Amino acid sequence: MIELPTTTPFFADKADVVAEIFSRYPEGGRRSALMPLLWEVQRAERFIAESRMNEIAELLDITATDVKGVLTFYSAFHEQPVGKYHMQVCSTLSCALAGSDEMYDYLVSELGIVNGETDSEGRFSIQKVECVGSCGTAPVLMVNDTYYERVSKPRCAHLIAALREDEQPEPWRERGGDTVSAEKAKPLSGPTPNGGTQEGESP
Ligand code: FES
Repeated sequence: MIELPTTTPFFADKADVVAEIFSRYPEGGRRSALMPLLWEVQRAERFIAESRMNEIAELLDITATDVKGVLTFYSAFHEQPVGKYHMQVCSTLSCALAGSDEMYDYLVSELGIVNGETDSEGRFSIQKVECVGSCGTAPVLMVNDTYYERVSKPRCAHLIAALREDEQPEPWRERGGDTVSAEKAKPLSGPTPNGGTQEGESP
């Protein structure tokens, strides 16, 4: 179950964290600490409640409306609880051409939830997102902050099975020269180079 935050101020016992974040910015540039403070909350609680917005506004001497304006601009921040594993399917052109729609459909059929929903256990949530900046390795699926690139159906199945066991696999990095696997993944949809099917491929 998702635990809702208490009324205890989030940063009450985190003076060192706040000081470290503030130290990254020059005097007078404290407003720039907004994003890292939002991340601190979201990393811990998976979303940013109204009370946390107020607290951050107070720390930065800005209004809660200023905080909310930034929070709602970036799809990476959430006002509602998301799952422990937040599955973000890139749906922009390169990924769409490489099969992100099929990836989304596969996730929906496997997880039983649709875009914007969280499952009853609070384990998985799905969100369609715009380009996440890795078009050359489409289709891309992000799980929380981790990129999984060139996601094939077998890889997707492997990933879901691992996350059900709380064993998140290492990210698949397939940009340019830093490929960790000798074998390139096939696109999620369409024929494989040898004309065969992707079903049954190893991840
Ligand atoms: S279109 Fe998906 S990463 Fe750019």
